[in-house]
Amino acid sequence: MTQTAKFWDKHAEKYAASPIKDQKSYEYTLERTRSYLGPDDKVVEIGCGTGATALLLAPGVGQITGTDISPKMIEIANQRARDGGNTNASFEVRTAAQAMEDARKADAVLGFNLFHLTDDFEALLASLHQNLAPGALFISKTPCLSEPSIGFKRFIFRGLIPLMRLVGLAPYVRRFSFGELEGLITDAGFEIIETSSFPAMSRYIVARR
Ligand SMILES: C[S@@+](CC[C@H](N)C(=O)[O-])C[C@H]1O[C@@H](n2cnc3c(N)ncnc32)[C@H](O)[C@@H]1O
Repeated sequence: MTQTAKFWDKHAEKYAASPIKDQKSYEYTLERTRSYLGPDDKVVEIGCGTGATALLLAPGVGQITGTDISPKMIEIANQRARDGGNTNASFEVRTAAQAMEDARKADAVLGFNLFHLTDDFEALLASLHQNLAPGALFISKTPCLSEPSIGFKRFIFRGLIPLMRLVGLAPYVRRFSFGELEGLITDAGFEIIETSSFPAMSRYIVARR
């Protein structure tokens, strides 16, 4: 198992039990995302964590597959799906790179609070662009730690990340700005059709292949 998978496995139970930090922003994320999805759509969510978002989106789509690098996160997601009697959501252990393969059949690929944690975003975008059908959507939300709006607490946290990584208390974290993130998505060949920020430091981006 990779260091990244081990890190997230260790944090999965706590992650599952943590309340959503900004409920209003979360609900708006769901609302905007639902507005792009149809009842027959095949959707893939990468870095789905414990499956909460995929399970909330599931009633409005044909099929949703949640994928995550952490087996423990996926175990919790599958348990949640069983507990809720869900029939159109499934969860599988896959790295983001592996999940790009699933994009071939998808009408939309989602990735929330994930890409600042990956060290291969450019390669993921290239693979996604290669695999997605023309017209299919890539919907993401990414904390951008280079933005001035990150706030004092996160500013301090950002400075501590390298130290925390040394002792296994933080994962790899990339510091995007909104401009850099959007530039990479358009450079990969996508057309951006919606951007907004909720909360202020997180960029929500809807892009079309
Ligand atoms: C901050 S959590 C976000 C979970 C969920 N998307 C959400 O918004 O609540 C990041 C998730 O990404 C997963 N992850 C991190 N790196 C990954 C990678 N390279 N491939 C797939 N999943 C990854 C972690 O296991 C974790 O579940």
